[in-house]
Amino acid sequence: MSLWWNTTTRFLRRSTLPRDDSAFAVHNPHQTRNDLRCRISSATTGAVMEYTKLGSSDLEVSRICLGTVFRSEMAEEACLAAIDAALDQGVNFLDCANVYRNGYSETIVGKAIRGRRDRFVVSTKVGSQVEGDAASGGLSRVAITKALEASLRRLRTDYVDFYLCHFPDPSVPTEETVRAMDDLVKQGKVRFPGCSNFESWRLYEALLVSERERISPFVCNQVGFSLLDRRVEEELVPFCQQRGVAVTAFAPMAIGLLSGRFRYGQPPPEGTSWHRGPYNYRAAMTPRVDAVIQTVIDVGDARHKTPSQVAMAWCLHQPGIDVVITGADTPERVFENCGAAGWSLSQEEVQQLDEVSDGQRLKIRKDCPDGYRRTGDGTSF
Ligand SMILES: NC(=O)c1ccc[n+]([C@@H]2O[C@H](COP(=O)([O-])OP(=O)(O)OC[C@H]3O[C@@H](n4cnc5c(N)ncnc54)[C@H](OP(=O)(O)O)[C@@H]3O)[C@@H](O)[C@H]2O)c1
Repeated sequence: MSLWWNTTTRFLRRSTLPRDDSAFAVHNPHQTRNDLRCRISSATTGAVMEYTKLGSSDLEVSRICLGTVFRSEMAEEACLAAIDAALDQGVNFLDCANVYRNGYSETIVGKAIRGRRDRFVVSTKVGSQVEGDAASGGLSRVAITKALEASLRRLRTDYVDFYLCHFPDPSVPTEETVRAMDDLVKQGKVRFPGCSNFESWRLYEALLVSERERISPFVCNQVGFSLLDRRVEEELVPFCQQRGVAVTAFAPMAIGLLSGRFRYGQPPPEGTSWHRGPYNYRAAMTPRVDAVIQTVIDVGDARHKTPSQVAMAWCLHQPGIDVVITGADTPERVFENCGAAGWSLSQEEVQQLDEVSDGQRLKIRKDCPDGYRRTGDGTSF
């Protein structure tokens, strides 16, 4: 099915039928009618998306996944338009969670996939407490089983492709969680279990249980990763690579800090997540962070790419990072951010970005509920 295979499982495919498909055929002698048929859409941007099989699953996903928190966008029509735009750009992978917008994200995704479920790979998560349901949350068998039923109802589907434990739950034995997830696989409601924010030792514990019991293993771990937060690359990512667990990276732009709109010494632009809170802008925006932002801008200027595209292209380039989850919430941003795929940073550019961001650890503090002017310690920016 793929047009260009490389030595690993990754490959590139045009997301949409280009205007001049005779030229396309010259570059891609192995293409078949079927290859074209499976990706035809109304748009003709000619964007190139990369695909990969996620961990030990047999599911082929776009290396750019659309996250559906929709931080700055509430209107249903706009959210649906963003998902449509992603599909046009070759994105077939949508990520949500039961807690995103307290279920609203899953409801939106449910509307988006209606009548075309097989064109999407959907992941959702369990473990966080849903507002108004004090009994929700955690990774006990009861909590997982109940949460999945609610997610399936909102998503209007009878299965999810990847069901992830959102955060570790130390109060529940790992074996109970792994077995509960496996039961959902056996019932056909979940295709593959996975996790998010799991340390390697905890993931190892889960993998040992599934190995011993010969039940479904966690196939992916969703973790925060960007030029501004490289904590996972030292230990967790190599561990996942060694065990064949896929790594999917959220917050690749550090909630927009790498978009080029934020600079040290300047307040965050109004209307942005960093302006609204609860994120602590003053704690996050340091001269060191600004140096990374400047490099992203410089590399982008030289390559005619936007800072967002450079920041995401760097993530896509990292060994062991299988998928990058973008928080683009408008069709324009989806279009822009998908432009991170299909081209490569040069070795020198990667080195430049690696050096300026070496050892970066951005702990995003959520202690400014009223926005950036309130920093949690009562002072203003
Ligand atoms: N597993 C977990 O614990 C976890 C945690 C967080 C996220 N996630 C998943 O990962 C997804 C992405 O996370 P994220 O939203 O933090 O990712 P992100 O891409 O780092 O940040 C998204 C924000 O960046 C800004 N942005 C995005 N594209 C832009 C562009 N082209 N130009 C200017 N600004 C742009 C917007 O900020 P403004 O809204 O300020 O305009 C947007 O809300 C989520 O939707 C969710 O699916 C998972």
